Amino acid sequence: MKKYVFAAASTLALAASSIAQAGPEAEVLHWWTSGGEAKSVAVLQQEFSANGGTWTDMPVAGGGGDAAMTALRARVLSGNAPTAVQLKGPAIQEWYEEGVLADISNVAEAEGWDKVLPASIAAHMKCEGQWCAAPVNVHRVDWLWANAEILSANGIEMPTSWDEFNAAAEKLQAAGVIPLAHGGQAWQDATVFEVVALGLLGAEDFHKAFVELDPTTLGSDKMVAVFDQMRRMRGYVDSNFPGRDWNLATSMVMNGEAAFQIMGDWAKGEFMAAGKVPGEDFLCASAPGAGFLYNVDSFAMFDVDGADKQDGQALLAKLIVGQNFQKVFNLNKGSIPARVDVAMDEFDSCAHLSASEMTASSEEGSLLPSYAHGMAMRGAQSGAITDVVTAHFNSDMSSAEAVKMLTQAVANSL
Ligand code: BGC
Repeated sequence: MKKYVFAAASTLALAASSIAQAGPEAEVLHWWTSGGEAKSVAVLQQEFSANGGTWTDMPVAGGGGDAAMTALRARVLSGNAPTAVQLKGPAIQEWYEEGVLADISNVAEAEGWDKVLPASIAAHMKCEGQWCAAPVNVHRVDWLWANAEILSANGIEMPTSWDEFNAAAEKLQAAGVIPLAHGGQAWQDATVFEVVALGLLGAEDFHKAFVELDPTTLGSDKMVAVFDQMRRMRGYVDSNFPGRDWNLATSMVMNGEAAFQIMGDWAKGEFMAAGKVPGEDFLCASAPGAGFLYNVDSFAMFDVDGADKQDGQALLAKLIVGQNFQKVFNLNKGSIPARVDVAMDEFDSCAHLSASEMTASSEEGSLLPSYAHGMAMRGAQSGAITDVVTAHFNSDMSSAEAVKMLTQAVANSL
């Protein structure tokens, strides 16, 4: 009997202590699984724990987040949405329209987000005037990365035009070097395509084609030239490219197996995580052409029951836009802070280039949303474009045929 009383008392004590310990919790769905990405998300995880939060990790591997978005849909459809989700661009508003996002305006207002975020970034985070997502960073997509030693050994400067890029690639190929490290996955094909498109179309026509979805620009001769360049790019990759993950392509540049990669600055996160030094081991330059393709990572909170989860969402949102987090996270991630008031003195030369060109392009009207990374249009349209890009890249389809398919596919998706 005594024993029973003791057991019951200790059960009560346990229950009481777990109530006392209950606090903010969050299950966080994201696709940050490469070396540099994992190091970055760990910063958020640590800050969350240091502030009393309990983090349940839900990583879904797959660059660009396609697999993560499939997992998200399955969870929401089964009525069991994760508390916080890496989500960006118009997909935020698409989920809001489904009626499944939580309103985080209380946190945003208390923390004065409108005062510390550029208006263009804040606009992506709002749904009918309320705050529905928290921005983490600004990634730039139109970058050229290179192995410094390979370039100097072959007497090659960072190309400043696509003609120079082609000349460099051909020289490298003749010397037995793989010119372009690439992974044959649809989103990587789309990444290269939009970078080439910005370079060859120019900012104004890029906007017409990939923001306004203007059929004349999509079907123009300039677009034929973009596909012609894509055909040349196909010739510069090695035969093992199908299915290769983007970070393995970055490793090829790092290890001297290939000269260049065209990829957003999450690639810099990989170089840095491996201890490589910009300007010494690897080079960064904006890809040929004027403009800046931005890709802002953000987290949206889903409607969930329970005070612990809601507290977790509020804490997470607050930390994400916090000044210290924005610095430390972005030093690891390769991006620059979304906040305008973070000191940049600890950031490297590539980040400084990104920050100054972002300001300049904003003034010149050439700051553009990345289509390949879900910032420019809704999923149905970007999916239609990517299908054509990848079908062209992986076949001998002519450029004229690709442009015809492109205009048709976009028209059908509207
Ligand atoms: C995301 C980055 C991520 C990259 C590769 C992009 O769409 O914005 O944060 O590192 O995909 O997975």
